[in-house]
Amino acid sequence: MADTQIPESPWFSYRDGALMCEDVPLASVAAEVDTPAFVYSGAAIDDAYRSIDDALSFAPHLIAYAVKANGNLSVLARLASQGCGADIVSVGEMQRALKAGFPPERIVYSGVGKRRDEILAAAQAGVRTLHVENIQELDVVESVARELGRPLAIGLRVNPDVDAKTHPYIATGLRESKFGLAIPVAESIIPSILENPHLELESVACHIGSQLSSPRPLREAVEILGRFAKHCVEQGAMLRAIDVGGGWPMHYGHEVDAYPPPAAFGDAIREGLEASGVLRPDLEIITEPGRALVGDAGVLLTRVLYTKMQGERRFVIVDAAMTELIRPALYGAYHAIMPVVEPGPSTDVIPVDVVGPVCESGDFVAKDRPLPELKQGDLLAIRGAGAYGREMQSMYNARPLPPEVLVDGSRSRLVRRRSGPEALWQGEILA
Ligand code: LLP
Repeated sequence: MADTQIPESPWFSYRDGALMCEDVPLASVAAEVDTPAFVYSGAAIDDAYRSIDDALSFAPHLIAYAVKANGNLSVLARLASQGCGADIVSVGEMQRALKAGFPPERIVYSGVGKRRDEILAAAQAGVRTLHVENIQELDVVESVARELGRPLAIGLRVNPDVDAKTHPYIATGLRESKFGLAIPVAESIIPSILENPHLELESVACHIGSQLSSPRPLREAVEILGRFAKHCVEQGAMLRAIDVGGGWPMHYGHEVDAYPPPAAFGDAIREGLEASGVLRPDLEIITEPGRALVGDAGVLLTRVLYTKMQGERRFVIVDAAMTELIRPALYGAYHAIMPVVEPGPSTDVIPVDVVGPVCESGDFVAKDRPLPELKQGDLLAIRGAGAYGREMQSMYNARPLPPEVLVDGSRSRLVRRRSGPEALWQGEILA
């Protein structure tokens, strides 16, 4: 095939001409649950978890999976059983994480706009740390602690003002982003936090953005965060952890150069901490990977409904849409597409627009993508759909929510059913 922009994966590869997820042919998943459907490889999740765990083996650490990447209960349970923690940004994500079996003491709560009732619910559930990123929020946490009659553990999320050099929508560490506290502001409130009997400053945190193509900005941010942590300790804080955020990249397939491996990001964290002088044997490192754990563990399986020519443009209309995978429409994101039946080595490819059935011109999976000639009924696997696929889905055009399947070797299990018509009007009152 001429389109080589497909990331190598031992979990999604051809065997005897059939695209597999581990030992399960994707065609048989489609026959069983129909399309569109998300299919996840359990082994890919385990493998990704292990590589980040190994990359941080130089220090005690907690991998707090960013639930926002994929909150399917079975995916969460799989990670929880490995010893993984969770990074949540809402009480809804907390409820998912608790239901899937994450112990509350392994859950950290990030988020730029937490409501008081959410802070109260998280504190009552015993969530380990509330990341505070606003002075007004500190007052709300304090009032919740008073109400509960016990101090609450907080982490201060600062904004290190480092350019993550990623897509502007997923960069979060610049001074003018809405996230985190500017370091001088954070420094100015430390004495009052330390004097406050209702607050326990247990960590410092930052997250400079997603999909870091180089470990350099991470190293820079971690050094700045480490210096801030040192300042907190010098002021008398008993810091237990330093949370360096997410951003571990995954390959979507269009990258010009391969990203450095997880070990390089682990090294960047270690070097940043060493340079700041804060690394000590009992200081725990927390990181919050999302897509690096689940992104390439998932495909969106879809079927060609029709093909057509419009002027010079060739369209392939599939049954998956922006409702299942909004990333192309929202960020112009690239997702590799693999036919489920392997094209022969000398098959010609032609550029096509792969589009969904939703009534929006922005509803596309790929534009001008060289693919072998496709016909009605052909199955395609859209790669890299394990993260920010189902989580960002919608029911626009009254489309049902797709099923999800988790594969383990030669076993595939349905872990969410396709939604039925009742889901379309759930909660509505016919007046
Ligand atoms: N920690 C915090 C505080 C975050 O805000 C995020 C992502 C993460 C960790 C995990 O980032 P990751 O490791 O997955 O890159 N919808 C976008 C991504 C938005 C990410 C928002 N925050 C996308 O589809 O690319």
